[in-house]
Amino acid sequence: MNAIFKLDGLVLETERLILRPFKQSDLDDFHEYASVEGVGEMAGWKHHETKEHTQLILDKFISNDKTFAIVLKENNKVIGSLGIEEYGMEEKLSEFFNYNGREIGYVLSKDYWGKEIMPEAVKTVIDYLFNVKNLDFLTCGYYDFNIQSKRVQEKCGFKPYRKLVIETKIGTKEQSILNLLINPKKKIEFIFSHPETLIWKEIIKYESRKLDDDTVKSLIELSKQWQEEDCSYGMIVNTKDNLRKPLYVAVKNDKIIGYIFGHYYKLENKTSYIEVGSNCFMIDEIYVIPSYRSKGVGKELFKLMENEIKESCDYITLSTSTKDYKKILHFYVDELDMNFHSAFLIKDL
Ligand SMILES: CC(C)(COP(=O)(O)OP(=O)(O)OC[C@H]1O[C@@H](n2cnc3c(N)ncnc32)[C@H](O)[C@@H]1OP(=O)(O)O)[C@@H](O)C(=O)NCCC(=O)NCCS
Repeated sequence: MNAIFKLDGLVLETERLILRPFKQSDLDDFHEYASVEGVGEMAGWKHHETKEHTQLILDKFISNDKTFAIVLKENNKVIGSLGIEEYGMEEKLSEFFNYNGREIGYVLSKDYWGKEIMPEAVKTVIDYLFNVKNLDFLTCGYYDFNIQSKRVQEKCGFKPYRKLVIETKIGTKEQSILNLLINPKKKIEFIFSHPETLIWKEIIKYESRKLDDDTVKSLIELSKQWQEEDCSYGMIVNTKDNLRKPLYVAVKNDKIIGYIFGHYYKLENKTSYIEVGSNCFMIDEIYVIPSYRSKGVGKELFKLMENEIKESCDYITLSTSTKDYKKILHFYVDELDMNFHSAFLIKDL
């Protein structure tokens, strides 16, 4: 959720800057940089064509009391702004429901670009919001084309979180990246709900593995867990001899949370679908532990395997005895583009 925040006269100081609330007497300095074309446009607003327009925004800055004026100590001039905004789509980003956060937005006078001024200001504000205000996370976004803002956010430790299309104040739609920074003191483990969360991909690592002792041990443990879940008919716990290569695993904090393995074969008897002699690859097992399901992990594992074998095979095959067959068919047919071939049905008498 959005944290409650007001500047309430707050002043922060960095080596070269003073960050303080805006005052009416800042109008001229504010207008000077905001009226330059190509500054506000990078952040989604049109440069100010009149001083009256700047006055309107200045009044808003003062009454909303959440935007710092960035003052350069050297000449006591206001050379930019830094807002502690509310992050958008609050009701949709369920991973943040129980945590306090805000979004940072900023603009700097063109005359001062490239001197690492904005990273200096943003780092100080992050320090204040995390260590004094005790916020859990901060977001910060940029339009795809705004490489300079991307760099500011990288320098401050933000990581890509979501890709979004944002409608700007000037009516255009821009492809954007929303970045995230988690308060490192808090050791929060967000469970990201959306498969397209970019940060998710960073946290989960995918690797091809050999069947070394540690990997074998983990895979056997996971197959025990699979059996206990009782979600597949006839699931037998693996032994070392059942495991095969090629093998891909999904790893979180050095623990395997999902795997896929299978074997190559040549078709000897014609089926209604495949010709004799075709080169096939059978997926023997694909498994993701329950707490990481529906987040794209299985899909990622499947794609890695597909990529590895596609040069030498005509088909990927698998058979499933999962009890929730409707869900599994959705996964294989709709998400992974497999074709349905046959099913074996039984009625208890
Ligand atoms: C984004 C912005 C605040 C950067 O502030 P800054 O104090 O110049 O930041 P830095 O000095 O760290 O420079 C950041 C990047 O800008 C680029 N840059 C540097 N000097 C530049 C210049 N003279 N002209 C254009 N870009 C420049 C570089 O890519 C640099 O990254 P690098 O240091 O890795 O080479 C400033 O460019 C700005 O106000 N832009 C317009 C408003 C805006 O985009 N706001 C953010 C919306 S998300």
